[in-house]
This record gives sequence, structure tokens and C-alpha cells, in this order.
Amino acid sequence: MTAARVSRSGKPAVVAHRGASGQAPEHTLAAYELALSQGADGLECDIRLTADGELVCIHDRTIDRTSDGTGPVSEMSLAQLREHDFGSWHGGKPASVLTLDELLTLTLDWRRPVRLFIETKHPVRFGSLVEVKLLEMLRRFGVATPPSADHSRAVVISFSSSGVWRIRRHAPMLPTILLGDTARVLGGSAATAVGATGIGPSVQTLRLHPELVDKAAAAGRVTYCWTVDEQRDVAMCAEIGVRWIATNHPADVRDWLVTV
Ligand code: G3P
Ligand code: CA
Repeated sequence: MTAARVSRSGKPAVVAHRGASGQAPEHTLAAYELALSQGADGLECDIRLTADGELVCIHDRTIDRTSDGTGPVSEMSLAQLREHDFGSWHGGKPASVLTLDELLTLTLDWRRPVRLFIETKHPVRFGSLVEVKLLEMLRRFGVATPPSADHSRAVVISFSSSGVWRIRRHAPMLPTILLGDTARVLGGSAATAVGATGIGPSVQTLRLHPELVDKAAAAGRVTYCWTVDEQRDVAMCAEIGVRWIATNHPADVRDWLVTV
């Protein structure tokens, strides 16, 4: 595994949100491979636990929207999920559910250093098991103790401050982003309390409060902004010093960044 720096300096780096999900079905191998071939600096995924304790890349609580099946992810085994097609709903080819193991393999084997932003979703029934399983996997892949945040191949992101806190406690070298638009997150007190290395406001909030990026930087934190699909917002993010832009359209955002 290379320890090369992962982000480009100067301009925001581009994170493919659920893969190149504007063009391909979200959270599928095809969406991530497309994003990588388009030059994305990072990939974003949401993770959930299956009934038999496997981590899969699915955003919603159920598989209804993004597959030909129905039902909560947490009540299905990985084998049951594999019976469904997660590609055709978006006009793509049939696709299997993607596991975090498979996405980490793709990310770490790619021909240039790419960072994976892993968002933990928190069904109450699993308590802290998501973080436990995630850290087990990151350790197995050798990415749980990076030499520095800048060289880390994995970043854990979450709307859950307790989720971020659990990651920081057990893997203090891993960078973490506390997502959200609440006053506590944006003001920095929540990030301080849990030791997050960055904040993750929505683009709608940054339009109203661009000064948040400087405030975060003064406290030693980077800003990760989601979900940025419009050219004017990309220009704004570049101007105010956003470090990571999460977008459904990584190819467009890379083109737009050339001119800012
Ligand atoms: O990258 C953060 C963003 O993905 C958070 O919102 O609902 O798309 O997971 P959501
Ligand atoms: Ca997400």
C-alpha cells in the first residue's frame, strides 16, 4: 500500500458521492470504476450492517429504491442481498450489492492513491457494532493507522457524534469528518468534543455561511462539503478553501475546477 499524499494541493479535491452516481447506479462497482476512470481523488460510500454482520454499501434503510427487492438491509443476510439486482433501476446493467470489502479492494488497488470516505449509518438495533466491524476491516486492510491524516487512505464520516467519537477512541490516527448543519457541528463544539478532524456541512449551508471554512481552519479542521453538483458552487468551494468536494458528477467538477 502506498503512503503517497492523496489530495492535490491548492484546489478542492473531488470525491465521487456514491461513485459517479449521476451517470451510473449509486454504490455499484460500475459507479466507482467510472469515478476512478474520470480521475476522482476520493470515493464516498454509505455502509450498513446486514443481518449476518456484513458491511454493505447501501444508503437507504431498505433496498426498495435501489434494487429490484424490498425490505430493510438489517433484516437480510448478504446471501439474500446478493439475490437482488442493484443496477437496472438506474438504467444500468444488472449489478450485485457491493460490500465494503470489495470497495476497499478496488480503492486500494487502483493505480493511483485514492481516498475512501466511509459514512456510517446507524440503525439503533446494532448499537456500536458498525464501528467495531468497520475498524476490524480497516485493520485487516492495513489502513487503520495511517502515518498522518494527509496520507490516510480512509476517512470515517458520520452525522453521529457518538459514532465519530468511538472511531477516534479506538483508531486515533484515522481522520474523521463530523457531518451536519446543526449549530453545534458548524460552531465546532461538537467536533471538538469528539475529536473530529473535519466538519462536513451541506453546500446549502456553505452558500449562506462561507466563513465556516476559515473558522474550521483556524481550529485546525478541514471542510468536506456535500453534495456539490453546480458549477457556481464548485467555484465558491474553491474560493473559500473547501478541502473536499463530494459530488455525483466527478467528471464535470474536475472540468470546472480547471478554470477556477
Ligand atoms: O457525503 C455526505 C453525504 O453523503 C451525506 O448525506 O444522505 O447522501 O448520506 P447522504
Ligand atoms: Ca453518504
